[in-house]
Amino acid sequence: MNKEIEKHNGLIKELSPELSNKIAAGEVIQRPSSVVKELLDNAIDSGADHIRVIIQNAGRTLIQVIDNGCGMSKEDIPLCFLRHATSKIHEVNDLFNIQTMGFRGEAMASISAVSQVTLKTKKFEDEMGYEYEVWGNKVKNFEPAAVDNGTSVAVRNLFYNVPARRAFLKTDATEFRHILITFQQAALANADISFELIADTDSVYNLPAGPLDQRIVEIFGKSYRASLIPVEEKTSYVNVWGYVIDPKMAKKNRGEQFLFVNNRPFYHRYILHIILNIYRQWIQPNEYPFFALFYDINPQEVDVNVHPSKLEVKFGDERSVTAFTRSIVKKALNERFNVPVIGRGESPGGKSYGDFESGFSFGKSGDTSINRSGGDSIQFPSRINFDKRRGNRESLTDELYGGFGGNPQGIPGKYNTGSIPQPEYDKGRGFWQLHDRYIISQTLTGLFIIDQHSAHKRIIYEKALQATESALPSTQQLLFPQTIEFSASDFSLLKELHPIIQKMGFNIQLLSGNTAMVLGVPADIKMGDERHLLESILQQYQDLSSQLKLKDREKVALAMANKASIPRGKKLNDMEMERLIDQLFSCKEPYLDPLEKPTIVYIPLDEIESRFR
Ligand SMILES: Nc1ncnc2c1ncn2[C@@H]1O[C@H](COP(=O)(O)OP(=O)(O)O)[C@@H](O)[C@H]1O
Ligand SMILES: [Mg+2]
Repeated sequence: MNKEIEKHNGLIKELSPELSNKIAAGEVIQRPSSVVKELLDNAIDSGADHIRVIIQNAGRTLIQVIDNGCGMSKEDIPLCFLRHATSKIHEVNDLFNIQTMGFRGEAMASISAVSQVTLKTKKFEDEMGYEYEVWGNKVKNFEPAAVDNGTSVAVRNLFYNVPARRAFLKTDATEFRHILITFQQAALANADISFELIADTDSVYNLPAGPLDQRIVEIFGKSYRASLIPVEEKTSYVNVWGYVIDPKMAKKNRGEQFLFVNNRPFYHRYILHIILNIYRQWIQPNEYPFFALFYDINPQEVDVNVHPSKLEVKFGDERSVTAFTRSIVKKALNERFNVPVIGRGESPGGKSYGDFESGFSFGKSGDTSINRSGGDSIQFPSRINFDKRRGNRESLTDELYGGFGGNPQGIPGKYNTGSIPQPEYDKGRGFWQLHDRYIISQTLTGLFIIDQHSAHKRIIYEKALQATESALPSTQQLLFPQTIEFSASDFSLLKELHPIIQKMGFNIQLLSGNTAMVLGVPADIKMGDERHLLESILQQYQDLSSQLKLKDREKVALAMANKASIPRGKKLNDMEMERLIDQLFSCKEPYLDPLEKPTIVYIPLDEIESRFR
């Protein structure tokens, strides 16, 4: 300590190493499952092909991880307990890996600051192994010992010297559940390693090395065997693979949703939301499907927000990743079950994802066995700072889509507060219209082609449904009310649908003699030929009558979207284009039209580049 500080009569004191270690440890080690995670990471990094985890009293009294990996030399043993001691960082050249792989060299130091650690280790090539004991960073024992190849780390009495922390632990059941999820994540992401989990006297898992689907079945039960659906698609930007499951296997608990990026578990509220939303049409609001999806992507495209208990991720191109996720999960489920989805009626045998596929240059869906991992969907509050203005959109859309996709009560509370990634199109760069049909816009990592007609359909559809929920639909009054005489059948249908149509923003007075007076139309619809518009909406509605899944209001909204949207072939000025795109991105499902066909095709820059090679 220097003189300046001494002058202040010791008011400022350097923290003792023990105290500063304890404080730092608190950030890395929050609960028993954090220890399990760190020890598992190290065991996996050691190159082991067998890892055993032993837990007593939900980790309060003992957490032990035994691997048959590379082991440590005598010299390295004390070093590994020093803060920022790591043998790994020089092999890693980007921050992403440093953050996500946990290569911070802090884990062993942190663990040993708040527990009693016994390390036994032996390198394969050494004659003798060593036993090393350290309590609260104080070395208690260090001696040669007859031990197996590899490393065993036993962590006893976690937080024995931090009573406040210890008191903060939850019930054994809760702590063990966190451990279980951590273990499952590691086991899923490393199916080629055999794992064992022993809790008190129970053998919880004994997982042989094997393909991912086998690992999933071993962990979650034989009933999953016939129900897993492989997913595997590639783009130049991201590859996604893994398994989803038959909706009928959905469970009442939320703990089986696993996302991995570059083989590390991550949490992504919006992706979870998208997947759950797709399942909503088959499952009850309080049910959740298993899935394990692995995203392989250039680490530089991943923005991580690391927290000891979670890894939150934002992708450089969120929109592609989320749209891609949505389309492949839908595709997997649709292929498997041949489920009629909205829109199939209008495009029989239509390839709902065709445009997406070409846009992303998807590969063919494989039937391979794959690996996977998961995001603990329980413990992570979101910290990704998406655009707040769009905060209500998801819950709103859930409501809108209640009929075939969304179910507001079904979305866990934390998802309800969520928001949709802000579109990243580069406003200043303007828009171009191609063949009076498509709008092209530059994005940060490529370009988007938006189909103006489909986009407008999406907008009208959502607004119409939304209007049925709100007390005051927005209507534009016609300067000259139109009196229209309908056919008898149209008129009776109009009468039937009148309440819905009014709610969507029409202002129509039914008169006698199959006649109605139109006083106003919905705010987003071009005024003009009201007779034609209404007649075609009624016609469309009838065409949709075979769509049993759709509610009346959805059919009306769909009919309106089809008939009132900007046609292909209409020239748009800059303002119209910008307004259309803004409205599209304030939709809940901007990427798909109401019939689930793409509204937007994204072409990444590197794909364009590759065309010039
Ligand atoms: N199970 C193990 N097998 C072999 N070496 C290990 C094991 N656990 C820890 N080590 C060594 O201890 C070092 C410090 O571990 P840790 O504090 O977790 O930091 P990091 O994993 O970030 O390097 C590691 O870099 C590694 O050299
Ligand atoms: Mg480590």
